Amino acid sequence: MKLTLAIVVIFATVFSGLIDSYDCKIVQFIFGDSLSDNGNNNRLSKSFAQAALPWYGIDYGNGMPNGRFTNGRTVADIIGDKTGIPRPVAFLDPSLSEDVILSNGVNFASGGGGILNETGGLFIQRFSMYKQIDLFKGVQTMIRAQIGNQEADKFFQKANYVVALGSNDFINNYLMPIYADSWTYNDDTYIDYLMETLGAQLTILHGMGARQLMVFGLGPMGCIPLQRVLSTSGECQEKTNTLALKFNKATSKLMNDLSAKLPNASYKFGDAYDVVNNVISDPGKYGFDNADSPCCSFGKIRPALTCVPASRLCKDRSKYLFWDEYHPSDRANEMIADELIKKLGFAFFNSSSSDPSPPPTSAPAPSDD
Ligand SMILES: *[C@@H]1O[C@H](CO)[C@@H](O)[C@H](O)[C@H]1NC(C)=O
Ligand SMILES: *[C@@H]1O[C@H](CO)[C@@H](O)[C@H](O)[C@H]1NC(C)=O
Ligand SMILES: *[C@@H]1O[C@H](CO)[C@@H](O)[C@H](O)[C@H]1NC(C)=O
Repeated sequence: MKLTLAIVVIFATVFSGLIDSYDCKIVQFIFGDSLSDNGNNNRLSKSFAQAALPWYGIDYGNGMPNGRFTNGRTVADIIGDKTGIPRPVAFLDPSLSEDVILSNGVNFASGGGGILNETGGLFIQRFSMYKQIDLFKGVQTMIRAQIGNQEADKFFQKANYVVALGSNDFINNYLMPIYADSWTYNDDTYIDYLMETLGAQLTILHGMGARQLMVFGLGPMGCIPLQRVLSTSGECQEKTNTLALKFNKATSKLMNDLSAKLPNASYKFGDAYDVVNNVISDPGKYGFDNADSPCCSFGKIRPALTCVPASRLCKDRSKYLFWDEYHPSDRANEMIADELIKKLGFAFFNSSSSDPSPPPTSAPAPSDD
C-alpha cells in the first residue's frame, strides 16, 4: 500500500516534470549548408569542406575553430539569440543526447550540402538535405523512445524548423561543368527540378511534425569573391545573381503553395538579397570598407578557396562583408539576421510574447486527422 503510494508520487512528480519541461520548450531544428554548419563537417573525416583551421572562429568564444565557416556567428546563431531560442547543437557533437535535443534542438547543417543529393560531390563527404532528413528520423526515434509518442508529437509540432540551403546547388553543381546537372538542365528547368525536390522534402518534414518552418533565400551569390574572380574586371556575375533571384521567387511561391496545401502548416520564406546588394553597391553608406574581397586571403593568390593559417587577415574584420571567398563575415551575418527577423516576423520565437498557436488551457484529446 505504502509502496504503491510512493510509486504514484514518484510517477506524478516525474510526469509533471516531463510536462513542464517538454510543454514549454520550443527548440529549433536546422537543415542547411556551410552558412549554418556549426561543427558537423569538422567531424566528417573525409570532407574537403571543413572550417577546422585558424582563422575560422577567431571572433567566437575562445577564438579556436569551431566548425562555423565564418569569423564569428552564423545567421541562425544570431536569429536564435535575438529571439530567445537556444542554439541547437550540431548533430555530430559528442554531447548530443535526448536531454540536449529536448532542451536545445539539433543542427544538421553541413558545408557543401544542397537540396540535391548530387550537389557538392567534389567535397566527398557532406550531408545533403535528404541525408539530413534521414538523420532527423533517427533523432525522432530517440525522442519517441524517451518521452513517448504523444509528448513527442507535441514537441516536434511546436518546434521551429529552419531550412537554409540552395547556394551549393548552383555554385557547386549547376554552374560547374563537371556536374551532369549543368548540361542536363537549363536555368528554368533546373529551378523547377530544385523546387520539385524541395517541395517533396518539406512535405516529408511536415509528415514528421514540422508546422512552423522557414526557408531562407539566397543572397547575391554572383558577388561572392569566388564568383568575382571569374572575370578579369572583378565584376559580379550577373547570370549567377539572376539565378538567385529566380530561385528566391520560386521558393517564395512554393512556401505559399505548401502552406495552403499542408494542414496547419505555416511555411514562410525570407531573404536578405536586397540588403546585401545595397552594401555591395555602396559599402561606405552601411559602415563597411570592403564588399568585394575576402577578409582572410592568401596574399595575392585568389581564389584561395579556404582561409588557411598562413593567410593574412584584414585589419578590421567588422568592416568586411566577406570573411572568405564564399562566406559572409559575422558583421554581415548580423545584418542578414536582422533583415530576416524583420521579414519573417520572428516575434513568436520569443515565448514571452505571441505564440501563434498557444496550447489550449483545457486540452482537447489529441487527434491525428
Ligand atoms: C521579445 O522580443 C522583443 C521584441 O522583438 C524584445 O524586445 C524582447 O527583449 C524579447 N524578449 C525576450 C525574453 O527575448
Ligand atoms: C538521395 O539520397 C537519399 C539518402 O540520403 C536516398 O534515400 C534517396 O533515394 C536519394 N534520392 C535520389 C533522388 O537520388
Ligand atoms: C491541426 O490543428 C488542429 C487544432 O490544433 C488539430 O486538432 C489537428 O489535429 C491538426 N492537424 C494536423 C494534421 O496537424
